[in-house]
Amino acid sequence: MRIYLLYCIDKIYDVFSLLEKNVVVGKPIIGPRHLTFPIYSSIPDVKNIAKYQEELAVALGVKPAKVSLTLGNGCYELMIPSPHRQLVTLTGVTERVRSFRPRALDNPLNIILGVSPKGEVVMQKLGTNVAPHLGIFGTSGSGKSEFLRCIITQIAERTDGSTRLVIYSPKIMDFADFEGTKPLLYPITDDPDIITHMLSELEVEMELRSKRVMKGERVVVVLDEFTNLLAKKKRATFYVERLIERGRSEGIILVLATQTGSKDVFGGSPVIRQNLTFRVIFQVWNARESALVSGHPKLDCHLLEGEGDAVVVLGPRNQRVQTPLVNPSRIKALPRTAESMEKPRLILLSGDIFSPLEKLREEREPDEMRGLKERKKIKAENIPVEVWFYLRDRGEASREKLVKDLGFGSRTAANIMESLNKLKVILPKRYKTDTNKVNERRLNEVFYLLGLNEAKKSLQS
Ligand SMILES: Nc1ncnc2c1ncn2[C@@H]1O[C@H](COP(=O)(O)OP(=O)(O)O)[C@@H](O)[C@H]1O
Ligand SMILES: [Mg+2]
Repeated sequence: MRIYLLYCIDKIYDVFSLLEKNVVVGKPIIGPRHLTFPIYSSIPDVKNIAKYQEELAVALGVKPAKVSLTLGNGCYELMIPSPHRQLVTLTGVTERVRSFRPRALDNPLNIILGVSPKGEVVMQKLGTNVAPHLGIFGTSGSGKSEFLRCIITQIAERTDGSTRLVIYSPKIMDFADFEGTKPLLYPITDDPDIITHMLSELEVEMELRSKRVMKGERVVVVLDEFTNLLAKKKRATFYVERLIERGRSEGIILVLATQTGSKDVFGGSPVIRQNLTFRVIFQVWNARESALVSGHPKLDCHLLEGEGDAVVVLGPRNQRVQTPLVNPSRIKALPRTAESMEKPRLILLSGDIFSPLEKLREEREPDEMRGLKERKKIKAENIPVEVWFYLRDRGEASREKLVKDLGFGSRTAANIMESLNKLKVILPKRYKTDTNKVNERRLNEVFYLLGLNEAKKSLQS
């Protein structure tokens, strides 16, 4: 490497002396896959920069497209591909951050994106005003799924339980080693119907959160190949749009990845495009595609080199990075829980008791969705009010208890138990451990939505 660097420096001096320009070449900076040479000149010459770049490429025997000459701080910066590529690993980068800015690793959403060509670590906090959500683009095999793994690992390692994950990928094997890890809110899925249902629940949860009915953990929703999902499921588009527009302030953050090359990388949705101000773009096919995906006409993402070579775009700013690879042993070491995967997330059975919420949904849902709700409805109102208060006070119930404590007939008590079970207020038996225990969050929703808090007051007076 040393010899190659000296050789390059020699060639650079040759070029500029032939052009009769006086320069000094500074200490080269060795990045993961690039070398950067600072070239000091008393008056850097902007006009001829293209010409210099061409001459330098020829002298160094590198394709002109792979060479970049830009004006840095009082000097030119010449960047060329490095003959010795260094692998960037998440472990390596994390250690570096830990040594110089350990606090940066406190927040699970402060994501390490990669290493710049000059060897600097690039990080960005997700879920902020400037970077509410993240869009990831690139051709097949350019490094998107690897990068998703890198993001997921960081969140899973750093969260104390207050940030949860939802993962969808049609290539479920890409993420199989995350299955059963603690931060997962639902099992990882490759099923468009299931993820659409999960999105619908999150959308309702967002609504409840915004009305302060419900508090909850921050949720990062990772959708790999999301445009395929949206093409398959019209309803998914609706939910993704809702979440991307309003989710951030309620702690729901989207990480969307898709292949380029299809007609519309934003799933045909201007809403999604507008809300993805934060993008990581890997190699794309051509200049037109690059402009389309990045929103910058001259970003040249088609000249990226694949395998994790990317550009981070944040509004008008952009930064080249090499994304890190995750060591699988790191994923193996993530905390796991068998139990959390088996418990149902309470939220809502679609189309059941929550009339206020149903109304809210119906106002917004397209016609086609309403047909889905033609199912037998269980009426929360049919469960006597004293049962709700009993549940709240005792925290559990069973058929025997309803008979003994509240004086119901055995048959009625059994029916009530079954309804509670269906409503997931009482955790169903198959989810074991908490049989007959009350699902408190669920119960609180019921209280709120049925106005039972008020009812109790009037009962007491
Ligand atoms: N950051 C990286 N560093 C080195 N190699 C990478 C990196 N990212 C991806 N690769 C290589 O490229 C291959 C394809 O990456 P992948 O993430 O599956 O692509 P995509 O999801 O964009 O189709 C990986 O199997 C790996 O060999
Ligand atoms: Mg992939």
